[in-house]
Amino acid sequence: TVLVVDFGAQYAQLIARRVRECHVYSEIVPSTMPVAEMLARKPKAIILSGGPSSVYAEGAPPVPAGLFETGVPTFGICYGYQAMALELGGKVARTGSAEYGGTSLSVLREGALFSGLPATQSVWMSHGDTVTEAPAGFIVTASTEATPVAAMEDVSRGLYGVQFHPEVLHSEHGQAVLKHFLEAAGCRPAWTMLNIVEDAVEAVRAQIGDGRAICGLSGGVDSAVAAAIVQRAIGDRLTCVFVDHGLLRKGEAEQVERDFVEATGVKLRVVDAAERFLKALSGVTDPEEKRKIIGREFIRVFEDEQRAILADGPVDFLVQGTLYPDVVESGGGTGTANIKSHHNVGGLPEDLKFELVEPLRTLFKDEVRRAGEELGLPPAMVWRQPFPGPGLGIRIVGEVTRERLDLLREADAIAREELSRAGLDRDIWQCPVVLLADVRSVGVQGDGRTYGHPVVLRPVTSEDAMTADWARVPYDVLSRISTRITNEVSEINRVVLDITSKPPGTIEWE
Ligand code: XMP
Repeated sequence: TVLVVDFGAQYAQLIARRVRECHVYSEIVPSTMPVAEMLARKPKAIILSGGPSSVYAEGAPPVPAGLFETGVPTFGICYGYQAMALELGGKVARTGSAEYGGTSLSVLREGALFSGLPATQSVWMSHGDTVTEAPAGFIVTASTEATPVAAMEDVSRGLYGVQFHPEVLHSEHGQAVLKHFLEAAGCRPAWTMLNIVEDAVEAVRAQIGDGRAICGLSGGVDSAVAAAIVQRAIGDRLTCVFVDHGLLRKGEAEQVERDFVEATGVKLRVVDAAERFLKALSGVTDPEEKRKIIGREFIRVFEDEQRAILADGPVDFLVQGTLYPDVVESGGGTGTANIKSHHNVGGLPEDLKFELVEPLRTLFKDEVRRAGEELGLPPAMVWRQPFPGPGLGIRIVGEVTRERLDLLREADAIAREELSRAGLDRDIWQCPVVLLADVRSVGVQGDGRTYGHPVVLRPVTSEDAMTADWARVPYDVLSRISTRITNEVSEINRVVLDITSKPPGTIEWE
């Protein structure tokens, strides 16, 4: 295991993923974790992430006490690098010459990190303070115009650091630098998809023993892969339940029943619960409340189902496709604030009657997809774009009603159809279509004035949904979507495009 110590930057997850891309397992831990606890996880190496603050800022998170005396090879990045320099007796100055964005790095000595890499390379910087003097024992391996000590290492103590962000793609050779650190730390590239799936199956078998489990399928890749892993572990002691909560997109229910059952042969029960969800959501407009209600009703439906399934014996386990970013974002992995309570983590009711089985809890989305391929699931399912558990319920700004759901379903189906037809499915991460149900605007159609609702197109590109950019969908494709939606869906007389990145916007509107 490589531990990524999170100093509060959004970069920690990216670092963890890059480490895994080197086939080395990594986990994120908060910077408040005592060193003894870190050592208990037997880390092969430790990486200190960047952070939002200056090392001199009030409340700047300190390096966990004793970290540099553990003998575990450690790599400091940006804030982590400066904290390392300061802690070990180097000098960090407020030179006033901040660097942000692409910067040219001069390699002074290859050392371990830059071995075989070009003497000049472009790197991504984002810092105010600057290391002006390396601590005793370190050699300085790189500099930039504004930063005399931009990288340093002390191979004998296994300590390394860089001012730039090797984890972002804008740093040309960042991945190679990271790989060199892992090699220097003696991490072997043993973490492969086959091992991941086998380990997950083994862990599920150990957890469930000879018990029985149920699994909710949403139609998405996460629950499908989670179910396939559990199916492999315990066979027909798993029953899958597909709750049609009435917040699904057009044709989705049929897809789950057909595709998934065909691929896995799993036992599947389909529950039509649309009425129940609509009732629970009636009059509710607050997004967090919607999420909590939907999460709660989901579990309740399962409890009802449990009673039916109990005829064949007790069921104590509930399988969920919770991913690592959900765990981290809900505050389960770090001190990061709860940004949104994802319904499969934060919104669980307190009187939950099942023990959770979460075989994907340590995996990122792209890893889940590769696990799905390894498990033989159909590509269409594995590569399906993400769709939130609360479904269209959080894509109607305002109260959720059957009529509004029908409108949104039609508009969404058109957008998806046109984006697919244009061959953009793999270029965009997802494209929520959002109905602004409480907004009306005037339009004209035929000879008449209309007073209808707008829908928002929210096409985004992303690697992991943690950050995203708005997708530059060609104008002619946007135009076709707009024309078709306004022509074919009565009540919708305006189509607008969301051109906000994440941050500051989130992908979903609620
Ligand atoms: P945001 O809106 O937070 O979304 O930028 C990030 C990604 O997560 C999806 N999403 C959810 N998925 N349950 C889920 O399973 C949820 O409650 C939920 N909320 C958002 C969203 O579609 C995007 O891919």
